[in-house]
Amino acid sequence: MVSNILSDASLDQMFRNARTHTAWLDQGVSDVLLEAVYDLAKMGPTSANCSPMRVVYVRSPEAKARLKPALAEGNVAKTMAAPATAIIAHDLEFFERLPKLFPHTDARAWFVGKPLEHIRDTAFRNGSLQGAYFIMAARALGLDCGPMSGFDNEAVDREFFPDGRIKSNFLCNLGHGDHDELRPRAPRLDFDEACQVV
Ligand SMILES: Cc1cc2nc3c(=O)[nH]c(=O)nc-3n(C[C@H](O)[C@H](O)[C@H](O)COP(=O)(O)O)c2cc1C
Repeated sequence: MVSNILSDASLDQMFRNARTHTAWLDQGVSDVLLEAVYDLAKMGPTSANCSPMRVVYVRSPEAKARLKPALAEGNVAKTMAAPATAIIAHDLEFFERLPKLFPHTDARAWFVGKPLEHIRDTAFRNGSLQGAYFIMAARALGLDCGPMSGFDNEAVDREFFPDGRIKSNFLCNLGHGDHDELRPRAPRLDFDEACQVV
């Protein structure tokens, strides 16, 4: 039988052994790797291929210093120590790129002049999905992640997206995690607790 299931080693790397990291080995993250993470993540599906996620990789000490005041206290040390921190954000004018992204029809017209709530929901839903693809892409490429929502979104937006069009969603520290610093894994809900087959 032909099977397309990934190897156990790959599943371990992406899911079973992948952890949320807070301590980092002294090993940088190259431009090539940061680009490769995006180039994999961008292939995940979004509605009408709208692809609203925008990413700012905060890597230089100067950029880290701009991010620092917005962080919740408990997230400061780990973020300052991380080789890079991705700001996962979404573009509220994502629909302007639909002529390129969904050329078969005038999908831009589904959003232009439509209620802001519809635009925001679409950007947040699909940007969040892309953020999850981003984490899995980073793991697939051998990186460790530390996602965080403990920060002041408005402060990050003022500092990094001053024109108001792009909104931050969550942050994701990136690097090679120090596995010796991990606490034991917390349990997940079992299939019967979270799923129904009807
Ligand atoms: C969207 C999101 C926001 C999170 N925010 C924080 C945070 O602000 N600070 C923090 O220390 N951990 C944060 N976490 C980490 C979670 O607590 C962690 O991923 C979860 O407990 C699972 O841990 P594990 O991957 O090691 O099993 C966040 C995770 C996600 C996905």
